[in-house]
Amino acid sequence: MSETPERRNSEANRQWGGRFAAGPSVIMQEINASIGFDRKMWRQDIRGSLAHAAMLARIGLIDAADERAISDGLAAISAEIEAGRFPFAEALEDIHMNIEARLTERVGEAGKRLHTARSRNDQVATDFRLWVRDAIDGLDAQLADLMRALAERAEAHAADPMPGFTHLQTAQPVTFGHHLLAYVEMFGRDRGRLADGRRRLNECPLGSAALAGTSFPIDRDMTAASLGFDRPTANSLDAVSDRDFALEFLSAAAISAMHLSRMAEEIVIWCSAPFRFIRLSDAFTTGSSIMPQKRNPDAAELVRAKAGRVTGALVGLLTVMKGLPLAYAKDMQEDKEPVFDAADAWALSLAATAGMVRDMTPDIARMRELAGSGFATATDLADWLVRVPRLAFRDAHHVTGRLVAMAEAKGADLAGLSLAEMRTVEPRMTDAVFSVLTVDASVASRTSYGGTAPANVVEQARRWRAALA
Ligand code: ARG
Repeated sequence: MSETPERRNSEANRQWGGRFAAGPSVIMQEINASIGFDRKMWRQDIRGSLAHAAMLARIGLIDAADERAISDGLAAISAEIEAGRFPFAEALEDIHMNIEARLTERVGEAGKRLHTARSRNDQVATDFRLWVRDAIDGLDAQLADLMRALAERAEAHAADPMPGFTHLQTAQPVTFGHHLLAYVEMFGRDRGRLADGRRRLNECPLGSAALAGTSFPIDRDMTAASLGFDRPTANSLDAVSDRDFALEFLSAAAISAMHLSRMAEEIVIWCSAPFRFIRLSDAFTTGSSIMPQKRNPDAAELVRAKAGRVTGALVGLLTVMKGLPLAYAKDMQEDKEPVFDAADAWALSLAATAGMVRDMTPDIARMRELAGSGFATATDLADWLVRVPRLAFRDAHHVTGRLVAMAEAKGADLAGLSLAEMRTVEPRMTDAVFSVLTVDASVASRTSYGGTAPANVVEQARRWRAALA
C-alpha cells in the first residue's frame, strides 16, 4: 500500500462512511487492522462468499445476473491473490472488507449486494472454522505419515533390544520397535483429538449475522451443506462468539507438540556420544563453527522447543477469551495469530520428525550392548526365583538385590556370577537361572498383551501399518 498516513486519516471507511465523517487515526488503523495476518484466510473467505451468494440467489434476494457477477468477480480476485497482484489495503482493515471492496470495484452494484443478511461476525466465524478444518485435515495426514514411518521402522526392529528406562536409569530391556510404537500410540491419540474437535467444529455460523440472526428468509441449511458443514449452528449469539473450535485445535496441538517434544528429546539423547543409539545424517544435523567434530541435532532441538510456542498459543487464546461478554468483541480478532502460528509450528515439527525417523541409522549393536548393562535383567532373575524355587516376590526382590550388590562389587554383570557365588545368597539357585539373564530371553519373555516381546511388537507394527495403509 502506498497510501500516506494523511490520506488514511482523512478518508472515512467506505463500508461505514455514512456514519463517519473522518477516518481513523494512524494508530487506530494500525491496532484495528488484521489484514496483515487474516489474509491467510482468503480462500475460505471466498468460499464462504460464493456459498452465501448462491443462497441469496436461490431465495431471490439477488438475481441470477448479480450472482454471476459476484462469482466471476470472486474468481478474478482469487486469481489476483494467487498471482500476488491483489492490492491489500490496511485501511480496509481485514480480509473480509478487502475482498468485498475489491469485488465492488470490479463488478459494481452486485458486489454491494453480497453483504445482505450477513455480518463480518458470522463471516469471520465461518471463515475461521473453514480454515481450522482445512488445517486439521492437513495435520491429520501428516500425523498419519509420521505414524507410518515409525511403524515401518518398528517392524524392522521388532526384535532388536535396547535398554528401557525409568528415571532415565536402565530399567529392563525393551525392543527398539516397541519403543517406536509407543510414539505411534501417542500420535494415534493426537489424530483422535483432531477428529473429535473436527466433529464439534463442523457446524456453520453463516447466517447468524451480527448476533441476533436476520429478518431475511435465508436458507442456512443450504449454505451449511455447500460449505461441507454437518448443520447450521443453533444459536446466533453463540455462533458469532464461540471460539471453542480454535481452543480445541490448540489443545490438540499442545498435546501433540508435547509428544513431539518428548520424542525429539530422545533423539537428542540417542545421538549424543555417550549413548550413540542412532546417527542422523547430514540432512538433519548441523556442524559447529568452532568444534570440527560436532554434529548437532538442531532439528530435534527445535522440535523440542516448538512445544513452548504451541502451548503459549493455547494459553494466550484462553486468556483472550476468558471473561468476554456475549456476543462478538474485537478481542476475538486476536484469535488468529496464535492458531496460525501453532498450526505452522506443528506442521513443521511433524515434517521434521518424520524426516528424522526416516533418516536415522540405529546402531543395533550398541543398543544391544547397553540393553544388557546396568543389571537390566535383575527383574528377570527375581521373576525366576518366584517361578522356579517359588519364593515370595518380596523375598525374591531382596535376594536379587543382594546378588546385584555382589556382582557390582565384583565388577561383573549378573551372568558374571558363578552358581556357587549365587548359592551363598540363595541355596535353591540352579544353573537354569542363566537362561533368563540374557537380554533376548528377557524381551522374549514379556509376552503379556502390550508387552515388548518381539512377537507382540511385530503384531502391533503390522496392525498399525494395515490401519494406516
Ligand atoms: N477482523 C475481524 C475479526 O477478525 C472481523 C470481524 C469484525 N467484526 C466487527 N464487528 N468489527 O474479528
